Amino acid sequence: MDPKFPEGPGKTALFKVCRDCHGPESAVGQLKTHEEWSKTLDDMAANGAQGTDEEWTQILEYLDRNFSLILVNKAGATELANTLDIPRATAEAIVKYRDERGRFSAVDDLKKVPGLDAAKVEARKDRFVF
Ligand code: HEC
Repeated sequence: MDPKFPEGPGKTALFKVCRDCHGPESAVGQLKTHEEWSKTLDDMAANGAQGTDEEWTQILEYLDRNFSLILVNKAGATELANTLDIPRATAEAIVKYRDERGRFSAVDDLKKVPGLDAAKVEARKDRFVF
């Protein structure tokens, strides 16, 4: 099992749709924001990558969950829920905390959000953009 590709929904679709031209490794060679991933997938479809609507959706979710830059000070609740892989209510708590207290400036700030699992934050510490 390749530790670079965590298990989960979307992995199968990624390997199916993204391996033909350059292999899945180069597909995830860098971290991107949700918006950038979304654009990359449009570009790959234009390059000729073929998948069903469901596969494209699953791939974007998989990329968001595992290979995204997390815009903690800009993203809305849906994007935070997807990129941090947390429940919607917790993502809303992050937005509320940010609205009330201002921008996050470090990983430790984020860990103070009520209900947010510090281990989840720590595991993604290289992916946050402040
Ligand atoms: C039909 C061939 C083909 C398939 C299938 C394909 N790609 Fe690509 N990909 C390309 C080509 C050609 C390039 C280089 C030119 C470019 O950037 O469009 C590229 C470049 C890239 C790059 C680097 C450039 C950038 O935009 O960051 C990424 C990332 C990428 N592909 C991701 C993916 C992902 C994710 C998938 C699966 C959804 C995928 N590719 C499937 C043809 C393909």
